[in-house]
Amino acid sequence: MLGILKGKKKKKKEKSKNSVSYSVSADTKQFANGVTDIKDIIAPESIYVDFNHIKIGNKFFRTIFVSGYPRYVGANWLSPVITFEHPLEISMFYYPVESKGVLDDLKKKITEFQAQLASDKQKGKVMDPTVMAALEDANALQEKLVKGIERFFQFSFYITIPADSLEELEATTKRVQGVLGSLLIVGKQTTLQMEQAFQSTLPLGVDKLVYVRNMDTSSIATTFPFTSSDLTMGEGVLYGINKHNGSLVIFDRFSMENPNSVVFATSGAGKSYMVKLEILRSLMFGTECIAIDPEREYKTLAESVGGEFIEFASGGSSKINPFDIPTYDEGTDNEIVENALGSKILSLHSLFKIIFGEMSNTEEAILDKALLETYRLKGITEDTSTHKNEVPVMEDLYKVLMGMEEAESKNLSARLERYVKGSMAGIFNQRTTVNLDNSFTVFSVRNLEDVLRPIAYYIILDFIWTKIKMSLKKRLLVVDEAWYLMTHPDSAYFMYSIAKRARKYYLGLTTISQDVSDFLNSEHGQVIVTNAAMKVLLKQSPSSIDKLSDVFHLSEGEKRLLLSVGVGEGLFFAGNNHVAIKVVASPTEDKIITTNPEQLIKIKKGLDKLEKPKIQPGRKIDINQIPKVDSKENPKLQNQEQKQPQENNQKVEPKTKQAETPKKSIALE
Ligand SMILES: Nc1ncnc2c1ncn2[C@@H]1O[C@H](COP(=O)(O)OP(=O)(O)O)[C@@H](O)[C@H]1O
Ligand SMILES: [Mg+2]
Repeated sequence: MLGILKGKKKKKKEKSKNSVSYSVSADTKQFANGVTDIKDIIAPESIYVDFNHIKIGNKFFRTIFVSGYPRYVGANWLSPVITFEHPLEISMFYYPVESKGVLDDLKKKITEFQAQLASDKQKGKVMDPTVMAALEDANALQEKLVKGIERFFQFSFYITIPADSLEELEATTKRVQGVLGSLLIVGKQTTLQMEQAFQSTLPLGVDKLVYVRNMDTSSIATTFPFTSSDLTMGEGVLYGINKHNGSLVIFDRFSMENPNSVVFATSGAGKSYMVKLEILRSLMFGTECIAIDPEREYKTLAESVGGEFIEFASGGSSKINPFDIPTYDEGTDNEIVENALGSKILSLHSLFKIIFGEMSNTEEAILDKALLETYRLKGITEDTSTHKNEVPVMEDLYKVLMGMEEAESKNLSARLERYVKGSMAGIFNQRTTVNLDNSFTVFSVRNLEDVLRPIAYYIILDFIWTKIKMSLKKRLLVVDEAWYLMTHPDSAYFMYSIAKRARKYYLGLTTISQDVSDFLNSEHGQVIVTNAAMKVLLKQSPSSIDKLSDVFHLSEGEKRLLLSVGVGEGLFFAGNNHVAIKVVASPTEDKIITTNPEQLIKIKKGLDKLEKPKIQPGRKIDINQIPKVDSKENPKLQNQEQKQPQENNQKVEPKTKQAETPKKSIALE
């Protein structure tokens, strides 16, 4: 309002200058003076300017300017200020700056930093890490400015706090300062400049303080207060909460051009947690789920929903015979049925390449001959009617190799011996005892040595893939810690071919990996990533962020977000949509899927009762398998289950409302 009053005076002067051209008569002027105009109506009775507040009429105002910003910020990082629960007047001013002048200054600065570091080194002092960080930033900025990737801006940021009393003003100022502090922003009161500060936050676009801070394009973009994108479909699974605006991320991966997904993050970032949640919720919609679990952490989940948990170990009872030949339903494509033996032998070749490592051409030829002979000895040939005969096991191949004359065959049989006679015979030299009849099956490989895992992964995947091809159904296949498969080109190729053909078989392949570089350095790994319509990135390590950024085309802001997010938070990519997501589970779900040791001990001791969800995921789940203890001990269970989704909604609602009615004034200059 001060601005308005001053503006009025100026205009009067201008008018008098121009009075000749308009030739307004003195009478008219006098008349105009006597008319009540809008300014007379809105102008306050009095304005009292104090050291650190200003009183206009009965209202008190205080302005805070921002003098320090954090080094790293994510998208929409200012949202706690924008959606502050008390009304605030916020102004942001953006000043574009000519790059050339900046470059000269930067050059000077870089030289200064370098000189300081050099002199420290000369004196034998430890180099100052803050100077090193500043030098690194300056160098990076210089490069981007020169290349024209970034432009240079100055940014100023003021917040005016209105209040009805001085006490309220003090209290609100403290709370605002608290929020700013939590964002690592340094806010200071504009002592002795309250009048100019107040004018700077009026919606006039006038910055009378000019307390600016240098910023590049990507940093300045993160201050934009309306970042909001929605990923709420009419149907699908709830993945989490959209961090931009508190809306729900509900998504049906089967509606995309392919239903595959990849999940990348550092260890402990919440990859398995998110995928387990997806499985739990997908089961409710009748999607069959199959998981390969290297950590034995899907066990509680499997037990809770009456699924099957199959554990591979030397002494265990679960076996898969890699020599099994699929028997197809009637009506399956003739070509596939007739080719059953041929494709089995091809797949066995890949398996033996993983088992043996390198093989020479002669060795491969011998192996091919031996495989055919092994099947022939059991009466199995290309003729599909013989495919019902009993299939061989690893030992039969071993015997055939032993009996062959070539020197190389002796070499091969010697390399195979440990899988037939040694400690591993129990796992690889047996007839199949498992099936995929349950609507949720987990294959655990935790009790296998690291060297055996790629082999076991391959055999299990081959088994699953064969079954999937045999009957068409909506399925999810989860491969946790999939980098084991990337360690060998043949298993990587297998994974890649599943990813490429999954859509045809109504299968959504979920690939989880913590080793991003292993994955992205492999040619097949890259195709798996680009072929996934849904991608989730949770917290990343600085060493992998650049590589990821190339593949996922991340913006600077997204890179920073991924470096600084907490557990269960990250970016969700669905086709062309990106949203920042926070994965949330209901307390009941959390107890089933958590691997937090503290929580697990509590659950074990019965302090925190594990409640079984009332899920009946499609066919063949034996509801009697679900222990009845809980429903007996906890008759309220059913009610709680029904309340769950509501609780989630309630949590979200207030945030959404706040986001809809932000109190702010933004000035762009
Ligand atoms: N969204 C989340 N909410 C609460 N706890 C979580 C969330 N995501 C992960 N956790 C917890 O964090 C820990 C690590 O999660 P996990 O999924 O095992 O990590 P990763 O598979 O990435 O190594 C576990 O104790 C898990 O219970
Ligand atoms: Mg995990």
